[in-house]
Amino acid sequence: MRLKLVAQFSLVTSIVLIFTSAVFFYFNISTLRKTLLETYVHKVDSLSEVILRATRHEMLNNNRERVFQVIDAVSDQSEIEHIRLINKDGFVVYSTIEVEINTHIDKIEAAGCRTCHREEKPLTHAASMDRSNVFRNPDGMKVLGISKPIYNEEICYSGSCHVHPSDLSLLGILDVAVSMDTMTSQVNDYRNNFLIQVFFLVLSLILCLAMLTRKLITQPVKTLLDHTRAVAKGEWKYVDSVPGDELGELGEAFNSMTRKLKTAREERDEWAATLETRVEVRTKKIQEMQSVLIRSEKLASLGELVAGIAHELNNPLTGIMIHAPMIAEDARLDPSLRDDCKIIIEEARRCSKIVGELLDFSRVSDIQKTRGSINEIIDRALALIEHHADFHDIEIIKEFGMNIPELFMDASQIEQVVVNMLVNASQAMPDGGSLTITTELRPGAGTVAIQLTDTGVGISDQNLEKLFDPFFTTKGHKGTGLGLSVSYGIIESHGGEIHVQSKVGEGTTFTIELPLTLTENGESKPPQT
Ligand SMILES: Nc1ncnc2c1ncn2[C@@H]1O[C@H](COP(=O)(O)OP(=O)(O)O)[C@@H](O)[C@H]1O
Ligand SMILES: [Mg+2]
Repeated sequence: MRLKLVAQFSLVTSIVLIFTSAVFFYFNISTLRKTLLETYVHKVDSLSEVILRATRHEMLNNNRERVFQVIDAVSDQSEIEHIRLINKDGFVVYSTIEVEINTHIDKIEAAGCRTCHREEKPLTHAASMDRSNVFRNPDGMKVLGISKPIYNEEICYSGSCHVHPSDLSLLGILDVAVSMDTMTSQVNDYRNNFLIQVFFLVLSLILCLAMLTRKLITQPVKTLLDHTRAVAKGEWKYVDSVPGDELGELGEAFNSMTRKLKTAREERDEWAATLETRVEVRTKKIQEMQSVLIRSEKLASLGELVAGIAHELNNPLTGIMIHAPMIAEDARLDPSLRDDCKIIIEEARRCSKIVGELLDFSRVSDIQKTRGSINEIIDRALALIEHHADFHDIEIIKEFGMNIPELFMDASQIEQVVVNMLVNASQAMPDGGSLTITTELRPGAGTVAIQLTDTGVGISDQNLEKLFDPFFTTKGHKGTGLGLSVSYGIIESHGGEIHVQSKVGEGTTFTIELPLTLTENGESKPPQT
């Protein structure tokens, strides 16, 4: 079982306090006992001395009755247990306990004698403490006894009335015993008071410590714990921490951690929310790149093939183109065959056109770069086709950027691209419409952009995918399907891109982007303002 922090703290403190108090209590009581005993011994020894001095004169005169009277008078005090006068042979000469008179006291066994007679040679002139002895009386009460030796003095054996020989050193013993009840109750009172004080001291200390621990540790820790649980559930709470102590610092660290966690969680959520869109965008980009790659590969291999075939077809076609009109004009020709001959001539022209475009297509990589202005190239392309019948009902709007730097490129190829686009636009607007041509510098993307927006028939999503494939056309015999693929190859060989946006029935926008790096030294030139 795990105890709460306050309980653990209080328990340990109590144990330490109680143990320390017990040791303190033990030494205190022992010292008190010792001191009190010494005082008592002194007191009783003084009393013995007083008795001896008071009876000295009567003893010298051998006036025993007077001596006993004095002893009786002194023993009236309530504390006195007994006073005995013992002669050198161990016989009780007088005692306040009458039955003891004339009895013999064993100097080894009797409590009062043992102190001096412990060793073989009895102690002489011993200090009062050495002559004292604590024992229990027949009632079981504690008693302090002191034996006061009565030494043989010159006056004792020189007197006429005396019988003491001069070679005796000790004449007898005055044995005084006092009850130790008072001392015992004093010690008990002191012990009880001490215990009560210690009890209240320990109690108040424990209470104080418990309160302090609760206020300074348990509550802040509990608050932190609640907050941690809340944060784990995703509730962003902050601690009201007061900096200064370790818990304050912990609170600060907790708040900073919560803030970071919140930011991280928000970022993660945002990522999760937008991940699908991001993946879609990336996938689309990858698909685009893939189709670009496939288209480039197709174009490259097709280019070689087409170049060979077109070259081989060119000569026989030239022959047909020369001889067919001659046959048609020949008078020998049956008139019924003249129309068939015209068809041969028409179809041969068509073949020649296809072969011409095929040769253009195969020459895409063969670029001749010179410095040129995009706006001028577009103007030249427009001048070429503007007067064509297809453009009569079409309004051409030019929105040319003025700060476009000159680019290093194959002007005739770029012009061919623009012509392709213009022709396609006009064919998409058979009933007329408008064609907006915009050029602009896009410094952010590092490109120059050409945009051609028509209000034509538009392109279906299905056709958009195949738009740049060679031979893809929706114009049947009238189209070759090579215009956009040739244009695509040209722009790609310039390091640029073509994009198309279209909506069926509304119109189409082609965007050509050429990189600004197409300058003479390979670096972009600052725009001319
Ligand atoms: N501006 C446009 N509006 C609508 N469709 C277009 C446009 N430009 C090109 N297309 C479509 O792209 C096809 C391929 O064009 P292109 O490669 O130039 O070949 P062609 O013009 O010989 O058909 C066209 O047949 C036409 O369907
Ligand atoms: Mg075309």
